[in-house]
Amino acid sequence: MPNVTFSSPQMKKDLTVYAVAGDTKTLLAVAKANKVPVAFECENGECGSCQVEVSLLSNYRKIGTALTEKEKTVLRLSGKITAQQIADAETNDIPPPWRLACQMILRDEDVLVKF
Ligand code: FES
Repeated sequence: MPNVTFSSPQMKKDLTVYAVAGDTKTLLAVAKANKVPVAFECENGECGSCQVEVSLLSNYRKIGTALTEKEKTVLRLSGKITAQQIADAETNDIPPPWRLACQMILRDEDVLVKF
């Protein structure tokens, strides 16, 4: 089960919450459920307002990273991800540094989420 640590200048201190791996809730849903002020507008992978920087905190085996087509498009347009990073995520299980919180489904990995 992953621990998700949220960190932001908008918060008094970092907050770590316990999430359920494989749950179909998005990272944004976990943030909202815990009153973490991650920005959002569309909640549909289109506006890009929920961009967050995600890094792995554990040395678990890397797990294949699934980015939605919307996530790839929005992150490419905003310059947060390269074609190579998308290829690395899809073929080499190397997670990209930026994600859309409304599109990202948590895996069984402890992560740090900065916004
Ligand atoms: S809230 Fe619009 S892309 Fe995530």
